[in-house]
Amino acid sequence: MTQTIAVLAGDGIGPEIMAEAVKVLECLRDNFSLDIQLEEALVGGAAIDATGIPLPDATLALAKRADAVLLGAVGGPKWEPLDISIRPEKGLLGLRSELGLFANLRPAFLHQELVNASTLKPEVIEGLDILIVRELTGGIYFGQPRGITTLENGEKQGVNTKIYKESEIERIARVAFDSALLRNKKVCSVDKANVLEVTELWRDVVTRVGKDYPEVSLSHMYVDNAAMQLVRYPKQFDVMVTTNMFGDILSDLASQLTGSIGMLPSASLDANQKGMYEPIHGSAPDIAGKNWANPLATLLSVAMMLRFSLKQPKLAELLENAVSKVLQDGFRTRDIVGNDGGNYTVVGTKEMGDAVVARLQA
Ligand code: IPM
Ligand code: MG
Repeated sequence: MTQTIAVLAGDGIGPEIMAEAVKVLECLRDNFSLDIQLEEALVGGAAIDATGIPLPDATLALAKRADAVLLGAVGGPKWEPLDISIRPEKGLLGLRSELGLFANLRPAFLHQELVNASTLKPEVIEGLDILIVRELTGGIYFGQPRGITTLENGEKQGVNTKIYKESEIERIARVAFDSALLRNKKVCSVDKANVLEVTELWRDVVTRVGKDYPEVSLSHMYVDNAAMQLVRYPKQFDVMVTTNMFGDILSDLASQLTGSIGMLPSASLDANQKGMYEPIHGSAPDIAGKNWANPLATLLSVAMMLRFSLKQPKLAELLENAVSKVLQDGFRTRDIVGNDGGNYTVVGTKEMGDAVVARLQA
């Protein structure tokens, strides 16, 4: 049966990286009998410009009906003056919450070829393979009350609320433990239980769920220490599970261990493994339209989509191997050029996509 993929390019470099993803998907469709159809829709700033809102009904309807959603990036300076409630980011957050995509998997995997592209020493990062499991539909991103109010004395006050129910913690913990079973069987839960009651509860619930997984070793770490440990000795981690905002911050940090934020894919899954797939980077307005952006995080997100939603593990592996080979062949976008004086072919967004397609067809 033909599977439908909603293609939401978004803003900034979104359309450029998405064009490469589409190229790769069309190659898989035409040469490897992947039975898919692609349907495009507007999200973020592009949707605001066309319709006045960041998540039009038609886009949400397509995302709900599709078998999987592929998203580029949203946001940019053009829309920053808008009220926060109708900014491009709300399109992305709306998709996450409307589709119930509570489990965000962000693998920080170092391709050996990029060991010199990171600012960290090779011995610190060689062999790095971490999975950050970020809670995605709760916490401070969605908690009520929120907003900016004016006090009686005329002073303004801003508020956001970090809030988690036991059931929300339990389901994300299970995703982390289940993931660990397929990996090195270690989970580190990251919280701020020494200060925040909400994460005291987080720690209690993760500990309770951990009892169902005797073969997985569970540790807990405060988020400030986790940030330090990620830079000091990142290879101590296998699966890290954490709240929405801590996961947002730690995954950007972890991306630098792999050479560039342009390398990190993500999958956001609901309870039935329906998912939205996107690179973890933003819309990078400063380099938009220049053919500079690294499309590999998006192509690796396509691989995650093939694995989780389209149930095509062989094609996922094929695509991941094609990305590795292209790196072995010395192709580099400018963000991942190593500092080792190696003999690299520095290419643009399109050429990197072409190189991956050529490898798939080889
Ligand atoms: C991410 C991004 C988003 C987030 C923004 C664009 C709303 O930073 O996916 O990590 O904060 O979740
Ligand atoms: Mg982020």
